[in-house]
Parts: sequence; C-alpha cells; structure tokens
Amino acid sequence: MKKKIAVLPGDGVGPEVIDQAVKVLDAVADRFDHFFEYCYADVGAIAIDHHGDPLPEVTLETCLHADAVLFGAIGHPRYDSDPNAQVRPEQGLLRLRKGLGLYANVRPVTTYANLLHLSPLKEEKVKDVDFVIYRELTGGIYFGDKGRTNMEAYDVCTYTRNEVERIARLAFEAAQKRRKKVTCVDKANVLESSRFWRDIVRNLSDDYPEVELDFMYVDNAAMQIIQWPTQFDVVLTSNMFGDILSDEASVISGSMGLLPSASVGVNTSLFEPIHGSYPQAAGEDLANPMAAILSAAMMLESFGLWEEGKAIRNTITHLLERGIGTAELNLENKFSCSQIGDMIAYLLAESESIRLTDQKIAQRISTII
Ligand code: IPM
Ligand code: MN
Repeated sequence: MKKKIAVLPGDGVGPEVIDQAVKVLDAVADRFDHFFEYCYADVGAIAIDHHGDPLPEVTLETCLHADAVLFGAIGHPRYDSDPNAQVRPEQGLLRLRKGLGLYANVRPVTTYANLLHLSPLKEEKVKDVDFVIYRELTGGIYFGDKGRTNMEAYDVCTYTRNEVERIARLAFEAAQKRRKKVTCVDKANVLESSRFWRDIVRNLSDDYPEVELDFMYVDNAAMQIIQWPTQFDVVLTSNMFGDILSDEASVISGSMGLLPSASVGVNTSLFEPIHGSYPQAAGEDLANPMAAILSAAMMLESFGLWEEGKAIRNTITHLLERGIGTAELNLENKFSCSQIGDMIAYLLAESESIRLTDQKIAQRISTII
C-alpha cells in the first residue's frame, strides 16, 4: 500500500516522539511491503517562530493533500504565561480541526496488567478497563456564537442534526466491533441541545439493534468513570463534556505516555498522542514515545491495515510485560525515548517471533540497536 502522511511534530517533546513513530512506520513498511511518503510541516509555537502563524497555509495544504496526519504536540511556556497573547499555539490546533473537518476525537482508555499500580485508582477498579470516548470536536460551545460587552458575556452551544448523526454513527459502528454498548453522556435534564442529541441518537440506534444504548448525565458520568470504569464500552458525547471527561479518563491508566488518539476527519484524519508538549523534557530523549507509536498504529488501522496495527500493539505489550519502558513508568528496565523506538522497530522489522531474552535486556539491548 502507498500512503502519503503529513507529519507535524510540533513543539516540546513532539519532534522526538514523532521521530520514533516514523521509525516504527518505516519498520512496518519494510516488513509488510508498504510505501509511506512523509511530508513534514510546522504547527504550534515553532510555526509562530518560523511563519508568525501557528497554522501556516502551507501546513494546512500539506494536511489536506495527505492520506493522514501524524501530529506530535503543541504548546510552549512562553505563551502559557501570557493569557493575553494575540497569537497562541492552541489556535493552530482549533483551526486545524476546523480546516480538516476533524469532527470526532477518539480516545481509547486501556490499562496494562503489569502497570495497574501506576493508576491513582485501586488496582481492582482499573483491571480490565477498556473503553473508548467519542468526543464531538468541531461543534458545540467551542464554536458557537460568542460575545461580550461590559455587562455580559456568552458562548452559545449549537449542534446541527448532521453534526450529531455523523459522530453517533461512528460510535455505534465502533460498538458493533467491541462489546456492543454505547453510553451517550449529556445534560438532558437542563440543556435543550442535549435533548436534541438524545432524540437523534435514540432514533439512530434502531439501525444498530444489537448495540445496547444508555444515557447518562455528565455529572454522574464524571463519578462513574472513577467508581466503576469497567462498565463503559463506547462513550459518546459533545465537545465540551468530552474535553473534560477524556482528561479525567486519561489518568486511569497511570501514564499519559501510553495513550494515543485519533481525530476522524471528513476526508483526512489526524493521529496524536494525548500528552502535551512537556517542554521541561524537550530534547532530553526521555519522553515516552509509546503513545505516539500507538497513534501511528491507529493510523494504520484507519487504512485497513489491521495486522500491522496489531503487530505494533503486540510489540509494545511485549516490552511492557518484560519490564521495559521509559523512566516515568518505573519498570525494572529503563530506556530512553529513542531506545524504545529502536527496540520496537527492531522487533517489528525482524518478525514478532523474535523476543527479547533476559540476556539481551541485561546487555541493555546493545546487540540489537
Ligand atoms: C484538547 C485541548 C484543547 C481543547 C485546547 C488546547 C483548545 O484541551 O485537545 O483537549 O480544549 O479541545
Ligand atoms: Mn482538553
């Protein structure tokens, strides 16, 4: 298969984790006989430095002409300390979402058996957690009418039927391939836009009779995610509620460095680790590249390359089970960002049957990288 991939490393640790994801994609291309062409472009603070714009026209064009976008992270302390800055890296992200029509943010929340102790929740609560949040991304209060006078301010939450239907379909289709349950999270006891969502989602569910549909108020969902996270399979929700719940859910696994995401677009989709730019660690080669590499796996799966995606996932699980990871995971064998990338690429390029022996781990993998 031949694919053109727009690569937007962005700021902070973005470039170093994306380098590892590209390394792993190259290994997949070799082993499975694909051809990936990479088109690099600037986004975020680095794009402000180079072009005076967090999303230069050339970057958007590069993305629009690609089959998928691989995104690192954006943000720089220089802008965080100045809430009145006229140009901010985050504007690049919001414009990219609109420009590519990235209407559904998909965030899997999973845990790894030997990392349960990293979770801030009790191990028995997080064991076997496996759900995915479908957050609407281009509508709602984020993009509705806004205004401010001396005496009042407002942000309007508007949704069209089409905006609700297209993400709801994705959520039902995902549930069909999973444990067949959709939980639609809203505030229908108060908000008209939530009642509108409920009507549409309920009607649509007739097309997916094998999928169980539940509704849950967002305040209750915020509690349930902590108290009983294994009950969820697919969570479907609006932009603002999804923003909050997906951050809440991201701490369940205990490491942000392991969580990938996809933003499904009208034509092109974007794949990115959920962690931020982590500026304190930039250039130190210590960030965990696994979230970026798993995002690349989600990208391959979006191309229909299921076996390739699975090979990456299996390799990462294998490393974690052997106690191999970056320092923040606190496993027996601590490796740098680039070493983790090298190991995953090595294991993939050869064949999954190659496994790391204790001796190789003891030699700090010196024989294979
Ligand atoms: C996210 C972020 C963004 C959002 C910010 C940076 C605008 O929090 O991707 O979740 O609120 O959508
Ligand atoms: Mn957020």
